[in-house]
Amino acid sequence: MGEGNGLEPGIYRYVAEEHALTQEIPGDMREKLAGAALSQPMVSKAPVSLAISAVYPRMTGKYGKRGIRYANMEAGHAAQNIYLLGVELGIGTCAIGAFEDDDVKKVLKLPANEEPLYILPLGYI
Ligand SMILES: Cc1cc2nc3c(=O)[nH]c(=O)nc-3n(C[C@H](O)[C@H](O)[C@H](O)COP(=O)(O)O)c2cc1C
Repeated sequence: MGEGNGLEPGIYRYVAEEHALTQEIPGDMREKLAGAALSQPMVSKAPVSLAISAVYPRMTGKYGKRGIRYANMEAGHAAQNIYLLGVELGIGTCAIGAFEDDDVKKVLKLPANEEPLYILPLGYI
C-alpha cells in the first residue's frame, strides 16, 4: 500500500495463477483503509498491509454451507503463515478483524461477492 520497495503506492491484487501483483488503484490509500478499520494506527502507519478476502460462493458451490467455515479456516492459516514468516524476517504484524466490511470493500474496490476477512499491516519491529 505505501512506500514499498520497487512498487508504486497503491492497491494491488495478488493473482495466484500468475504469482503476480496487478495494480487495482494507484496512490497511497493507507489513511482511507485505516478509516475503514476504526482508525487503527497500524493500518495508516505500516508501509504495507495485506488484506485477505474470500469469495464464499467459490467454496459453497462445492462444499455447501460448510464452505464458509473452510474459507474462514483457510484465511486463518494464511494469516498464521504471515505471522510465522514475519518472525523469520523480523517483520511485525497484527491481524486485524475489526473493520467495517462495506467500507473496506469500497476502499479496496472489491467485487460485491468478495468479503474482506483480515487486514495484516506489516512493518519492521
Ligand atoms: C481474528 C482476530 C482479529 C483481530 N483483530 C484485531 C484488531 O482489529 N485490532 C487489534 O489491535 N488486534 C486484533 N487482533 C489481535 C492481534 O492480531 C494480536 O493477536 C494481539 O494484539 C496480540 O498480540 P501480542 O501477543 O503481540 O500482544 C485480532 C486477532 C484475531 C485472531
